[in-house]
Amino acid sequence: MYDFNFENKKNIKKNPEKFLIFVKRLLPRWANGIPDSECVAIFKTLKIMNKKKLTLLETGSGASTLAMFLYCALYGGKMYSWDTNASKGSFLRSVISESIGRILDTDVNRVWTFIPFNSTDPNIGIRVLKELNIKADFCFFDSWHTLDQVLLELKEFETIASSKFILAFDDAYYTKRRINYSYINMLRTKLGLKLLKEPSYNISKPFYVEIENYLKLKYKKVKKIKDYYKQNYKKDIFFEYFSSDRKFMNKMGMEEKKKLKHRFDAFIVG
Ligand SMILES: C[S@@+](CC[C@H](N)C(=O)[O-])C[C@H]1O[C@@H](n2cnc3c(N)ncnc32)[C@H](O)[C@@H]1O
Repeated sequence: MYDFNFENKKNIKKNPEKFLIFVKRLLPRWANGIPDSECVAIFKTLKIMNKKKLTLLETGSGASTLAMFLYCALYGGKMYSWDTNASKGSFLRSVISESIGRILDTDVNRVWTFIPFNSTDPNIGIRVLKELNIKADFCFFDSWHTLDQVLLELKEFETIASSKFILAFDDAYYTKRRINYSYINMLRTKLGLKLLKEPSYNISKPFYVEIENYLKLKYKKVKKIKDYYKQNYKKDIFFEYFSSDRKFMNKMGMEEKKKLKHRFDAFIVG
């Protein structure tokens, strides 16, 4: 049941961020993977494009999906998400339909396409948008947090990107080149296995540095976006609310308290 009563359409339009956070906080933790301030940052970042009917992509669905859907419901546009967890897509579709979709009178199936598969698959991953003659304006990268995967997804995005686009990244301070040892160790702990030590060759520069370097070599105009997250994450109650779970994540290296400033980073290109 996600059809809680909130404000009417008129008031939602006046303060969409408040409504976004209301719906986000209805989500269970497994689908609520980003801080509130990051979710609002995604929504606000989309407004920078200043273009009607954007095409939005994401890899790794969850609370971010709500931000992108709310944007489309209010201002037009379509969105595509890749996530290997098909149940997440089905769950989010029902939440969106009962909450944002109901109040804003927007059919989720007309706006959102969920592809329950690997984002970089050559036959059904991001690049298939080319076969549909679709160019994308935005991508939020939040699937498997290794540099290899992020750069692979970014290169797939480039095959279908508009001339001007925005890229946004979760866990942009991560430095895991090939293998996400933190995630693997989290799962190993559940099996009672000993933790693996990360070899030094697996450590890259932070993703936000690697990505900026990559973009600046290829494009003339690359600008880091001054995002809402950085100005607000310190007072974000998400961190306190999930503090028990986050204590464990810090121990595994899945989250690094001191580096949180670069948990979210976004660039505008073109
Ligand atoms: C951190 S969660 C996403 C959180 C979400 N963006 C949010 O705002 O709550 C990562 C998701 O990426 C998915 N995933 C991992 N590797 C993937 C891949 N290669 N292709 C598509 N999805 C993937 C997982 O199934 C998982 O649901």
